[in-house]
Amino acid sequence: MADTANSDAENLVEVRGLTRTFVSRNTLFGKRRVMKAVSDVTLDVPRAKVTGVVGESGCGKSTLARLVLRLIEASSGQVRFDGMDLAALPAGALRKLRRRMQLVFQDPYSSIDPRYTVRAALLEPALVQGMALGGQAATEKVAALMAMVGLNPALQGSYPHQLSGGQKQRVGIARALALQPAFLVLDEPTASLDVSIQAQIVALLEKLRQDLGLTYLFISHDLSLVRYFCDRIVVMYLGRVVEVLPTAQATPRHPYTRALMDSNFEPDPAQRRVITLLGGEIADAFNLPAGCAYAARCSRASERCRIERPALVDDRDHQLACHHPIP
Ligand SMILES: Nc1ncnc2c1ncn2[C@@H]1O[C@H](COP(=O)(O)OP(=O)(O)OP(=O)(O)O)[C@@H](O)[C@H]1O
Ligand code: SF4
Ligand SMILES: [Mg+2]
Repeated sequence: MADTANSDAENLVEVRGLTRTFVSRNTLFGKRRVMKAVSDVTLDVPRAKVTGVVGESGCGKSTLARLVLRLIEASSGQVRFDGMDLAALPAGALRKLRRRMQLVFQDPYSSIDPRYTVRAALLEPALVQGMALGGQAATEKVAALMAMVGLNPALQGSYPHQLSGGQKQRVGIARALALQPAFLVLDEPTASLDVSIQAQIVALLEKLRQDLGLTYLFISHDLSLVRYFCDRIVVMYLGRVVEVLPTAQATPRHPYTRALMDSNFEPDPAQRRVITLLGGEIADAFNLPAGCAYAARCSRASERCRIERPALVDDRDHQLACHHPIP
């Protein structure tokens, strides 16, 4: 492929020092408040593997997803896709590259235009790329995509409100596959689905990855799901990476990851987004403490933790940002 600059490298995507700042204008006295939704994040996404990103609500997962795909601009830092710096690419080249990297949304209900039939939704990505298909080619493309994600071809004239949540997410995945991408960012693709449907979608994603040789960045607040599905796991807390687990089976050594693992899994999807997984107050993202952002909740916290922020360093085969990791 002509736009493959570095196809032998182990990592398809490399993120270096990525930071995104948001400014709050919504304060009583007009005071400008600044927060880093994603702060100095560095991570590698190896080819044909599933890299997981896990953390509680608001820790910056969706912001990271959008930054990695350059759907929003970074305040600083770099994303390299196949060796190419996304920020340095001219608009035309970025547009072309967009075919190769796609986002599957958290909420299948809002990712499809309600006025589109399944057929129209599946043909839209090519249309947007100026590669509109007509007649027999369009019919064949729709049939192939529907077969790929296990959707009954009879549904191609259906509107989103006529589909179940699982069917809508299959349409969302098929849309993401329409331009034959290499890389999918899956932002909580099963979070709003029932557990049994969730398992079917995860099985479908795994099959697609194997059949098509795809690389995934799989984002979830659910560590047990990530441990089931991913090869490597990146753990985020308030915008920062606090631990990288080298394998899904590795025992967490950061106190936050350990607490996530020990917290109760909430099987009711309706409750998932509102439960407080762990005890203790999450620090105010607009006013982070000087030291470790997790210190107020951490049973291992020392005086040093409250003063000095731990840097992310290699520690045996993990990466850890903690002054007192679990041995
Ligand atoms: N466009 C924006 N403007 C201002 N603040 C934002 C914006 N987008 C995200 N944020 C803030 O950035 C932080 C991270 O948000 P983000 O949506 O990335 O978290 P998340 O980990 O995806 O959460 P969830 O699990 O709820 O989806 C939050 O505090 C959020 O309020
Ligand atoms: S640096 Fe200190 S407060 Fe932060 S997680 Fe490690 S032990 Fe806990
Ligand atoms: Mg999110």
